[in-house]
Amino acid sequence: MGTEASATGPDLAEGVPEADVREGVPLLGRVGDEAVVLVRDGGRVHALGATCTHYGGPLAEGRVFDGALHCPWHHGCFDLATGRARGPAIAPVACFDVALDGGKLRVGARRDDRPAPVAEPRSVVIVGGGAAGVACAEALRAEGHRGAITIASAEGSDPVDRPNLSKDYLAGAAPEEWVYLRTRDALAGIDVALANERVTAIDAAARSVRLASGRELAWDALLIATGAEPVRLAIAGAELPHVHTLRTLADSRAIAARAGDATRAVVLGASFLGLEVAASLRARGAAVTVVGPSAVPLARVLGDEVGAFVRRVHEGKGVAFRLGRTPQAIAADHVVLDDGSRLPASLVVVGVGVVPRTDLAARAGLRVDRGGVVVDGELRAAPGIWAAGDIARFPYGGELVRIEHWQVAVRQGQAVARAMLGRGPRRDVPFFWSQHHDVTLAYVGHAGRFDRADVVGDLDAHDAHVVYRGGGAVRAVATLGRDRLALDVEAAMSRRDAAALDALVR
Ligand SMILES: Cc1cc2nc3c(=O)[nH]c(=O)nc-3n(C[C@H](O)[C@H](O)[C@H](O)COP(=O)(O)OP(=O)(O)OC[C@H]3O[C@@H](n4cnc5c(N)ncnc54)[C@H](O)[C@@H]3O)c2cc1C
Ligand code: FES
Repeated sequence: MGTEASATGPDLAEGVPEADVREGVPLLGRVGDEAVVLVRDGGRVHALGATCTHYGGPLAEGRVFDGALHCPWHHGCFDLATGRARGPAIAPVACFDVALDGGKLRVGARRDDRPAPVAEPRSVVIVGGGAAGVACAEALRAEGHRGAITIASAEGSDPVDRPNLSKDYLAGAAPEEWVYLRTRDALAGIDVALANERVTAIDAAARSVRLASGRELAWDALLIATGAEPVRLAIAGAELPHVHTLRTLADSRAIAARAGDATRAVVLGASFLGLEVAASLRARGAAVTVVGPSAVPLARVLGDEVGAFVRRVHEGKGVAFRLGRTPQAIAADHVVLDDGSRLPASLVVVGVGVVPRTDLAARAGLRVDRGGVVVDGELRAAPGIWAAGDIARFPYGGELVRIEHWQVAVRQGQAVARAMLGRGPRRDVPFFWSQHHDVTLAYVGHAGRFDRADVVGDLDAHDAHVVYRGGGAVRAVATLGRDRLALDVEAAMSRRDAAALDALVR
């Protein structure tokens, strides 16, 4: 999904003066019709495709650190030497030869550096065709793995780009082809089999999984990435046909089919998902009311000031709020709240959180604690078995955490691929983004709890960052209109450089 960076700037095949390519400062140019970026890192110059393979972000506006070029939009990054991707990007960018010739750096042919083939593990089974599962399969192939890979998925469709389901796709602004993360054919093209079947049991001792059809798949390495399930409300009317949750493409389609100018929509839950759905339904012309139990939406994660700002953004687009309220019952044409009031509703979307799907892992004898499968620093849950994404409880910042973010799930899938091949751990900094009408918030790091949330700048002018401190340390930073700062924060967090981080966000 996304657009190609336009091929502007100097013709890099003709060459640019060597001195023009400064350490750590990407230089955008072109080779033929293709946008290419030159990057000098540690003195060495690299040439890479300039368009992020996630949503088409402008890599020339990104940052260079950890041997990679980082995208300013959602923090995907690309290895300078190989072009290989890290989440949320999955596909690599092209790499080109660069030669120094008469004081000029000239970009030559597209390189075809194939990694050395690796035969082990001979058979990999991945349970879950979501972010972590697909990213793992693709990263295994990118790292040279040549053994068998099967993804067993209960998705009910080809793997989807889930964040899109509440945003552009639901708003009617994204074409159907953007919604697929990878099609079955694309997976077949890298020799990854997709079995659209639920896994019903894992036998850790026999190293096999059983599918719903009874078929057994043997594995030498297993990834469990079963994601999470929307919480359903235990109130009267919750099963009525106009009441929906949102996790899959079918869910998004069903909600979109009921949304239009005449729709009275009630969103139960002022969560990230609930608010994104509210924005998309407004974009389809529906009248939307969001109901939430807290006085300020998103306050637990983003703090009161940002939560109040997000509310203003939605109200500015015509979304109504009933906060401090919970639903008591749902009827065919209205929702009853706990104060006895009735909200007219021809469509109800429930966005009150998710429960990780850990049942399969627990039945396989893996340790499940506080809703997550406990894993080590390489996401290993047991010998030969890994867990990643929404279900994984993993070590971060001196504690075990579970994080429900797309970027985290993709990076963990990629990290599992490296671990399966014995390539060792890599440090990833959690990141998420959330879209509210024309406002996109970025959030770097992880602050499960915070003592202070200090806003620096002007949220209403869409130019601000927010520093979340816990125990005196910066745990996370949210940004609005400050993409490069968000990347600098990620770089400092990745280096664990607390002094640099403090100086950046002051
Ligand atoms: C509508 C929506 C919008 C979102 N937007 C954002 C966003 O903007 N930013 C962000 O950071 N995060 C966002 N998220 C959260 C993000 O999508 C998740 O954190 C991420 O998808 C987790 O990846 P995963 O691989 O762990 O699980 P999933 O992507 O959920 O994949 C799990 C897979 O496992 C399959 N499965 C489950 N049980 C079985 C079984 N027994 N056998 C076989 N297959 C099974 C499922 O069918 C599914 O294919 C959003 C989530 C939703 C629902
Ligand atoms: S567009 Fe680059 S990470 Fe999303």
